Amino acid sequence: MKNFDKNNPYNELPLLPPKIELETKKVLQKTITASRALAKLNGTLINLPNPNIFIDTIHIQEAKSSSEIENIITTNDDLYKAFVADKKTNNPAAKEVISYKEALWLGIERLHEKPFITTNLCIEIVQCIKKNTAGIRTTPGTTLSNSKGEVIYTPPLGETIIRDKLYNLEKFINEDNSLDPLIKMALMHYQFEAIHPFSDGNGRTGRILLLLFLKKEGLLDIPAIYLSDYIIRNKGDYYNKIRAVTEKDDWESFILFMLDMIEQTSIKGLIRLRKINSLITKTSESIKKNLPNIYSKDLVEILFRLPYIKRQNLIDTGFGNAKTVGNYLIELEKKEYLSSVKVGKEKLYLNQRLMNILEEEI
Ligand SMILES: Nc1ncnc2c1ncn2[C@@H]1O[C@H](COP(=O)(O)OP(=O)(O)O)[C@@H](O)[C@H]1O
Ligand SMILES: [Mg+2]
Repeated sequence: MKNFDKNNPYNELPLLPPKIELETKKVLQKTITASRALAKLNGTLINLPNPNIFIDTIHIQEAKSSSEIENIITTNDDLYKAFVADKKTNNPAAKEVISYKEALWLGIERLHEKPFITTNLCIEIVQCIKKNTAGIRTTPGTTLSNSKGEVIYTPPLGETIIRDKLYNLEKFINEDNSLDPLIKMALMHYQFEAIHPFSDGNGRTGRILLLLFLKKEGLLDIPAIYLSDYIIRNKGDYYNKIRAVTEKDDWESFILFMLDMIEQTSIKGLIRLRKINSLITKTSESIKKNLPNIYSKDLVEILFRLPYIKRQNLIDTGFGNAKTVGNYLIELEKKEYLSSVKVGKEKLYLNQRLMNILEEEI
């Protein structure tokens, strides 16, 4: 029997790596298919003429779903409006999702400066998500419950114990090369969640780490993958599989879940990318034909950065003064490439076809 009691702080949480055989035949087979799907997505992304067009939108989608896993729920419409409009939103969920996206960016920037995932980086990330200065938990009272309100897990307690376990995790992430990186990623995620270093924000920080890790390992150079889409669709499984590691040392099921997440979201990501790309091509040809006076490659690109744009985005990208870009937008609306909506006093322009692809089930 394991020395685990759901009602007592799990200070006995074993350090990484686990002392069992992890690279079973099933795991290795799944590692191959997941790696292949991820490599295909990565190859496609890095060969795009301007992959950065997609990144904001994918990160907002990721932020939305990752937050939704924690019951912070917004619509795409509210969220993009809040992200683009000048007026600060007073929708708390939209605010928190935007903070999540900022935290993801912060992590990516830090990784550029220093290619390590550290305890301090996790603290910076959680502070950015939560917009507070909280650090490692120091007081008792953090537990995880199921939907009936019953406690299912009590994480380790005591700052020194938590920091020691994080230090082990940090060493494992940055120095252990004995396992395939995708398997390592799964172990890292479980361990981070099991340590549960913060009083809130652990799920979201842990999922940001997944993207950072893929980038750090060179498996996804442009961190444009929408992993939380899989988790939100399989949330019950996600929770059960984390529990099964704790309660039964069932690493295999958890690793297979995480590998399937990589595989499925890579495949779907590629399909979505192709759809958006072909819409860009179609739109480009159509604007060239219908509005030759204003057509440029840069103009088309800016229509695809986010589903909503505003006048200032065009001004900032050098399309001319307010009057000129105002006329551009009028022309684009007349020909139904965009439709305007009022947000407070401001006018935003929606690219409905792009929004449709984002909202489509794949
Ligand atoms: N049995 C469990 N043991 C450890 N971690 C768990 C367990 N079940 C779920 N989790 C993780 O805890 C996260 C929720 O923790 P929380 O701190 O509330 O995150 P957030 O603030 O981002 O809402 C889940 O998303 C999941 O990653
Ligand atoms: Mg929470």
